[in-house]
Amino acid sequence: MSKILFITSECWPLIKTGGLADVSSSLPVALQQLGEDVITLLPAYQGVKQHLKSLEHIATIDNDFFEEEVKLLSGTVSSTGQHLWLLDAPSLFDRDGGPYQDQNKQDWQDNAYRYSILCRVACEIAMGRAVPSWKPDVVHCNDWQTGLVPALLSLEKDSPATIFTIHNIAYQGIYMRHIFDNLKLPDSWWHHETLEFHGNFSFLKGGLIFADRITTVSPSYAEEIKTSDKGCGMDGLLRHKASVLNGILNGVDYSSWDPSIDTYIKYPYSEKTLKNKRKNKQALQKELRLKGDKKLPVIGIVSRFAHQKGIDLVIEQIHRFIQQPVQWAILGSGDQAIEESLEALAKEFPDKVGVKIGYDEGLAHRIEAGADIFLMPSRYEPCGLNQMYSLRYGTVPVVTKTGGLADTVLDADDESGGTGFLVAQPNVDEVEKGLKRALSAYKNKAQWLKLRRRGMAQDFSWQESATAYLHLYEDAMLEKGGQGNAQIIAGDIAIKEGTVRIKKRRIPVVS
Ligand code: ADP
Ligand code: GLC
Repeated sequence: MSKILFITSECWPLIKTGGLADVSSSLPVALQQLGEDVITLLPAYQGVKQHLKSLEHIATIDNDFFEEEVKLLSGTVSSTGQHLWLLDAPSLFDRDGGPYQDQNKQDWQDNAYRYSILCRVACEIAMGRAVPSWKPDVVHCNDWQTGLVPALLSLEKDSPATIFTIHNIAYQGIYMRHIFDNLKLPDSWWHHETLEFHGNFSFLKGGLIFADRITTVSPSYAEEIKTSDKGCGMDGLLRHKASVLNGILNGVDYSSWDPSIDTYIKYPYSEKTLKNKRKNKQALQKELRLKGDKKLPVIGIVSRFAHQKGIDLVIEQIHRFIQQPVQWAILGSGDQAIEESLEALAKEFPDKVGVKIGYDEGLAHRIEAGADIFLMPSRYEPCGLNQMYSLRYGTVPVVTKTGGLADTVLDADDESGGTGFLVAQPNVDEVEKGLKRALSAYKNKAQWLKLRRRGMAQDFSWQESATAYLHLYEDAMLEKGGQGNAQIIAGDIAIKEGTVRIKKRRIPVVS
């Protein structure tokens, strides 16, 4: 059994802005289920303590970098059994607003300081100084907020092996020189071979340069980020690091995302009781005040409204299809201009366009259950979770052929019959073509049923991916000179030249 410290800035159901929160609950729980000793470290944002049972103060961390005493609280998430340690520093994290932004959607001014403290506390834990009875063998960092951890641990003797996972390379934690000085980072790190990045410095680069292994969340994205097109300026570094970079596909937590046991939907269903899906569609039409017509195909969208997600392309599609017999069920928030355009469309065409601006976990599930088609016209997508949820809900995905979308959806033109529709490029004409193909398939009942059944039969559960991470931990620990002792259970994995490469999943054919 290995001791694994998993560090994250969000974790479902405590705090969530996107897929990182889903991964940060389901991967550690899957590793726990494989017999590993996993602690997830998360800042104690406002309201998160109430999700934990048996909350206990286990350490107080006091050193030169903190202006106040920082406490570590240990607890277990009631609904999932996940073991969590909370970094309790109220002036930094117990605030009204989101984890990264205030209520006016402005980044917190002191984000660099807040997450540098998360990194420093993580290092104290990693070195066994915070809780001497628990020193991890491996530290698994996620996204830029944790990027200083591998860098700081490189200054220590006998430090654990480090893994750094890129969930989205576009977010790099870039700050100016005076902040670098305020964080009291070593002067030698102001160098292009370490943290300096085009006249600023980057938290993310700390992770990429110093971690023993780098992963990202799908095999295709692992290739894409090595190109200047998708690497966001880090592609040269990632090409250089190619031998330690792996793509491991995210999994799905089917205890939360399965229509046969989903507590957010009124009419549970499975592949055998697909008739109930229709009832969920009617309930969704009612909830979003759309015209209650069960024949009309409903196109669902649940998304952050960010350039990445191509929501501007969705708005164009709504205009192009507004005279057609289709309806739209849209949930999301983000870019204000997008929010306003969508609300205006819903106002103008209330029978056809249903929009809810904001975050609503229940409605996200009800859109998956009630929609016929799920649209994700992402410009890039490191993995994407909603398309995998859609497959399980028998909601046919129309997605751009990029990153994790390309790795999880098989086009209907494939000889197996496929599971969805791939759009070649994120532009208005191509997305329209993809939607037209899906709408024409929708009209052919037998074809549509087969497509949905093949999708529902896909298995993206975490076990295989969690096993792949265990191989990687083992590999990094061995290289570091430690004792690899993770228990490896079978998976679709090949070890090659000391690194782990994950094969793309095969899609089983269901006729
Ligand atoms: P990303 O992390 O880039 O936003 P993912 O597809 O990996 O994209 O994950 C998004 C997650 O956030 C999914 O679980 C999705 O259901 C959820 N989500 C996104 N927007 C909302 C929203 N407005 N309300 C509820 N859940 C949302
Ligand atoms: C990021 C990516 C998304 C991925 C998620 C979880 O937010 O944008 O594609 O699924 O992280 O890894």
